Amino acid sequence: MKNIAIFASGTGTNAQKIMERFAQHSLAQVTLVISNKPKALVLEKAQNFGVATQIIHRDSFYHSDEVVQSLKKQQIDLVVLAGFLWLIPQNLIAAFPDRILNIHPALLPKYGGKGMYGMRVHEAVVANQENESGITIHYVNEHYDEGKIIFQKSCPVVAEDTPSDVAKKVQVLEHQHFPEVVEQLVKKLSNQ
Ligand code: GRF
Repeated sequence: MKNIAIFASGTGTNAQKIMERFAQHSLAQVTLVISNKPKALVLEKAQNFGVATQIIHRDSFYHSDEVVQSLKKQQIDLVVLAGFLWLIPQNLIAAFPDRILNIHPALLPKYGGKGMYGMRVHEAVVANQENESGITIHYVNEHYDEGKIIFQKSCPVVAEDTPSDVAKKVQVLEHQHFPEVVEQLVKKLSNQ
């Protein structure tokens, strides 16, 4: 059985979908949800699934091995970022090579990087009159949104679309594909 840790700091709708997918799964389970926000709604969602939660603090995240040790202790195999905004430190990347993935609500390399999250992404897409946007699922390296791309899916953007219209279309894609891609990676890890 592979153990998945989800890092999330927001509402956690993607985390919810992933926890649903792995609630009764033969290959993996969501073991832990980590957040830097004690009041994040994702923590309630985790509790509803009986998944353990952990709050992390900036100092120990960037200046100690505490989080790595905790993940190792809980035998985590795969780390999934689903709405987690802090840059992942080098010690964590080194401890989980090709085992940390993130979802970004745009077609990287466009509309990525520090500060490009949430509605800012969709506002920029609309401001630039793009005719498509979408999702990117990628491995995480030490730079924001620059790791190797695993999966992309696009959706059309039309002239009448507001940023929140684009957000809705993108969220549909996220919920459709993120659990699926996580599952594919779990299968790959299980066969190694
Ligand atoms: C998603 O749009 C995801 O792409 C981004 O953060 C958002 C998280 O949303 N990285 P939710 O908390 O899963 O609803």
